[in-house]
Amino acid sequence: MKATWLDSGIEILADKLMEEGIYYQKIPTENFQPSLDKIKKSWRYSAQDIVELYPAMPNLDAICAKFDKEHIHTDDEVRFVLNGEGIFDIRSKKDQWMRLLVEKGDFILVPANRNHLFYLTPTKTIQCVRLFKENPSWTPIYRS
Ligand SMILES: [Fe+2]
Repeated sequence: MKATWLDSGIEILADKLMEEGIYYQKIPTENFQPSLDKIKKSWRYSAQDIVELYPAMPNLDAICAKFDKEHIHTDDEVRFVLNGEGIFDIRSKKDQWMRLLVEKGDFILVPANRNHLFYLTPTKTIQCVRLFKENPSWTPIYRS
């Protein structure tokens, strides 16, 4: 994972991300389930699934268009990257953009109601585990 302030390019360290409510952890992708189970138990996430985006996917652009514009939702966005990579742009509490490149082994939580967007790198490939509570509300509310 690489986190930088978008305006200056200066690196954002883990403790600053934590201060911003963005939880980050590296987890080995081999035998990851016990680690995720621990997180699910302590944070009360009851469910998980796997999402995958890849270049030959039908409607890839339409799917990406749902989250590549600035939005919020009322549930946390919790992702563990199994393969590929992607970019989260997330607003700080003071409304400054932070850019986070996530890749294999990166576990990240974007807190509920925080403005962000997500897009793929030119590889157009990512495979993630999503953690969520029962009936999550990820309906994006776009910033006008
Ligand atoms: Fe989102």
